[in-house]
Amino acid sequence: MTQRNTSGQSSQSAQLSQPQRIPAAVLGATGMVGQRLVALLAEHPWFALVGVAASDRSQGRPYGDVVRWRIEGDVPAQVRSLPLVAPTPGAHLPAQVVFSALPTAEAQEFEPAFARAGAFVSSNASAYRMSDDVPLIVPEINPGHLDALTIQRAARAWPGALVTNPNCSTIGLTIALAPLARFGLRRVIVTTLQAASGAGYPGVPSLDLIDNVVPYISGEEEKMASETRKILGAWTAGHFADAELRLSAHCNRVPVREGHLECVSVEFEQRPQPDDILAAWRDFSGEPQRLGLPTAPAHPIAYRDEPDRPQPARDRDQGAGMTVTVGRLRPCEIFDYKFVCLSHNTIRGAAGAALLNAELAYARGLLAQQGEQGASQ
Ligand SMILES: NC(=O)c1ccc[n+]([C@@H]2O[C@H](COP(=O)([O-])OP(=O)(O)OC[C@H]3O[C@@H](n4cnc5c(N)ncnc54)[C@H](OP(=O)(O)O)[C@@H]3O)[C@@H](O)[C@H]2O)c1
Repeated sequence: MTQRNTSGQSSQSAQLSQPQRIPAAVLGATGMVGQRLVALLAEHPWFALVGVAASDRSQGRPYGDVVRWRIEGDVPAQVRSLPLVAPTPGAHLPAQVVFSALPTAEAQEFEPAFARAGAFVSSNASAYRMSDDVPLIVPEINPGHLDALTIQRAARAWPGALVTNPNCSTIGLTIALAPLARFGLRRVIVTTLQAASGAGYPGVPSLDLIDNVVPYISGEEEKMASETRKILGAWTAGHFADAELRLSAHCNRVPVREGHLECVSVEFEQRPQPDDILAAWRDFSGEPQRLGLPTAPAHPIAYRDEPDRPQPARDRDQGAGMTVTVGRLRPCEIFDYKFVCLSHNTIRGAAGAALLNAELAYARGLLAQQGEQGASQ
């Protein structure tokens, strides 16, 4: 059967029948990212959501009774009665693919246990993003970094695997920068205006954020620099070689619900013409588009000509939340050019990113030993 992806594009990938779908679980299913994953998995053509896990505050009760649903629509009917369980491998979570939306400390503890038990773990958490044998993937940019799984599996004796997606502010920036790498990225300064949902739920107290901007997000500026260099770098001779660009980030929390806006100045080794940059963005596409992966947007980047776009409220849902919207390209008085980019932080920046990584791994035959039972014991 022909599948339609997030932009209504015809996908080359067949829809699997219900019994053939790959059993999947979400860890941290009650949080902001977990809710997005539950919503995206409810209708997924390849993965069937069979388990949901959260903290011991939530375990033992049906998902629908516990979750404080904070995204559009209703809790998907088929998930409401699933019991919330502990985020540990075993018969209570019989999943071959595990999507992790756990906080960092819990991810550090629980994610390897699933990989050791045979599951493919697609993680949103930062715990292992910078590990030497863990791919940090944006499928349109560095799908080749999945080759690191050979070394990961051998070194850790895991039948499963662990793959990560970047921090929510890094992902929009890297998608905007990747097509420009051909001009030689030398230096980047980025100032973010990050949405409240990026801090999870309940996140920043309302009295700290309404009528206010908080010019500090713990660890975020460092992550933007290190993750961007890893993603834009290479997997070569058995190790990750960082891209050489220098990056300085200012990260701010603003009272916007969803959508991280970023103001970027960039210096190149060879200064391109504005039309070269626009063409590079317009033509940018990658393996998810070629393979027609279900969550792939038809266009990873959309450029808007209006002088006052992109805007979170108007542009974050472009490509079902998977397209990064760029605008305001103009000369920079200090560097070469400056522009603005926007990405949906809980879809392209988190749940959709983890899903696209798992789809890519499935399409490449990398979901652990794909005929095996995964983390069912
Ligand atoms: N929000 C974003 O835009 C975004 C973007 C990219 C990456 N991330 C990363 O994704 C992860 C989840 O973020 P979030 O925003 O969804 O956070 P969140 O809203 O605070 O949700 C945290 C989830 O983890 C569960 N949890 C907390 N402590 C636990 C424990 N000890 N054992 C098992 N489960 C536990 C919570 O369950 P209870 O309901 O039972 O407490 C909840 O389901 C974090 O690592 C974050 O850094 C977030």
